[in-house]
Order: sequence, then C-alpha cells, then structure tokens
Amino acid sequence: MSKARAYTNIALIKYWGKRDVAEMLPYNSSLSLTLDQFYTETSVDFVDQKEDQFFFGSEAQPVSPKVKRVLDRVRSLSGRDQAAVVKTVNHVPTSAGLASSASAFAALAVAASAAADLQLSQRELSILARHGSGSASRSIFGGFVVWHAGVDDQSSFAEPITETVDFPIAVLAILVDQGRKKVLSGAGMQASVETSPFFSAWAQTAEQAIPKMEKAIANQDIAEIGALAETNAMQMHATTLSADPPFTYFAPETLKIWEIVREIRTKGLNCYLTLDAGPNPKLICQLQDIETITNYLQNRIPDLTYTLCRPGSGAQLVAK
Ligand code: PMV
Repeated sequence: MSKARAYTNIALIKYWGKRDVAEMLPYNSSLSLTLDQFYTETSVDFVDQKEDQFFFGSEAQPVSPKVKRVLDRVRSLSGRDQAAVVKTVNHVPTSAGLASSASAFAALAVAASAAADLQLSQRELSILARHGSGSASRSIFGGFVVWHAGVDDQSSFAEPITETVDFPIAVLAILVDQGRKKVLSGAGMQASVETSPFFSAWAQTAEQAIPKMEKAIANQDIAEIGALAETNAMQMHATTLSADPPFTYFAPETLKIWEIVREIRTKGLNCYLTLDAGPNPKLICQLQDIETITNYLQNRIPDLTYTLCRPGSGAQLVAK
C-alpha cells in the first residue's frame, strides 16, 4: 500500500480548452500557485482481485473513467495486471465546496506509481497526473508552477518556477456557494472550444501572459501578479459568456465580491480576484492586508466562509 498527499493549486494563468482530448493536451500553457490548504490523501494497493475499487472516505463509489485511465497507465508502465484498491480522503474545511481534481489526481499519480514500484521522475509524475486532470499536472510541484502546453504526451508537463516562495503573497479562498449545479470543467471548456468565437484569442492571449507572469513572480510584484491573474481569469470567463448557448460560473455573490475587491483597490490595497469553474472566488493579496480585507468584505457581505492560503508544497508520498 502506498499513500500520497497533494495540495490543490490555483491557476493564475488558466488552462481552459483541450487541443487533444484523448491525450489531454491543452491549447495553452498555464501557471499556478500550489496552496497549503485543501489537500487530498490517497492510498493505492494492487491486489489479486478482478475489478478496481474506489472509496471516497468510507463510501464505495464507481471507478471513474479518469481514475481508470491513470491506473491503466500505471499498469502498462509497470507491466502489472492486478486490480487497484484506491482510497481517497479530501481535507477541506467542512462542506467547503472547494475540493479540486488537481489535488486528487496528483495524489493518485504519486500513490499509484509508488504502489506499482515505478520510479518515476517528477516530470513523469506530472505527465501521469495530467491524464487524470490537466490541473493535477501542476500539483506535483509546490510554489509557482508552469505547465508547458507541449505538442505531444511527453512534451506536455509541469515544472516549478520557484518551489520556495519567500515573499508575502496570500490567497483568500471565499465560499459563496456549495450547492450550485455545476457545469464540470471538462464540459465547460469543451463548450468554449467548440462554440465561442473568442476561443482562439483566449488561447493566444493566455500563452502571451505566461512570460509576463513569470516576470512579475521574479520581481515578487504581488500587484502585478494579481492584476495579470484577474485579467486572465476574466478572459477565460468571457469564453463561457460568449459560448453558444452561453453559460457562466459567476453567482450573484461572486460579482458582488468582485465589485468590493475593485473598491478595496481604490483604498490602495493590493487585492485581485480569480475564479475557476465554480462560483467561489480566490483573492490574491498581501499577507499583511488579509485582516483588513476580510473585515471589509465581512461588513458588506456577512456570513461568508474564508480560508487563508499560503504557498504550499508539492505532492509527497506519506506511506509506502
Ligand atoms: O483540471 P481540470 O480538468 O479540472 O480543469 C481545470 C480548469 C480550471 O480550474 C478552470 C483552470 C486551471 O488551470 O486550473
């Protein structure tokens, strides 16, 4: 039995759209910050039984095609033909609705490859995790991470920009809604790819934003990192609003928070919003401003749940 832990990551330059669905290749490169909150622990055991089994907490669930895909790759790389017993636990604040496939598939890739006695490099682990979920390729590493879009299986992998982040960047995750019916990221991005007339402009602009973001990180410029991330997030969401039929991940509270965030900026604080395939925003701020920003938001919209996140570490084996 091997067990791994991986943290989620928040994309500052987003992955949105597959160039090759079968190989899980994205249209554009993406760039993220791995967080120190919201992690998944997954154990894998290869055993002599017929079918793979999957437990989410103590509950047996069907093995999803994505999980099967990762397990099949591990079997083919290692020459094993045993079935896997996968047990996974998400560590998120109670019903936070912030669980992510990034931490889940990064943990699965590390645990499954170790259980099969494969000695994979970090790059190979990133490629393996990508086959479960694109964003998981980045959670193999800590800190700031870039996922190179690549042109084929072996050239599409993530690597760290800097795993130790020694400047006071903070991410404030806000829970506005846990129950909304979701357009899953896979279906959402496919709709954008197929029907948004803005999609090619999105992919091109996102690729061009990568070196700009790398420069802002090198300069430890939190305002520039936040500004680039907010612009990129809104450009991604523009491809859903411009899809046919149009859809959006914004909830009314999300827009309200964005409005307050822009107001906070007029007070001279660095505070920027990013949003993935759901209504819960993440604010990019300076650590020393978190209390002021939280109080400001709390006064305007009471009863939101906040989680302060700092840069986190890469996926690790916790038991072998
Ligand atoms: O990894 P997936 O297939 O769940 O897609 C993630 C898509 C976004 O979270 C919206 C953006 C990203 O780069 O993480």
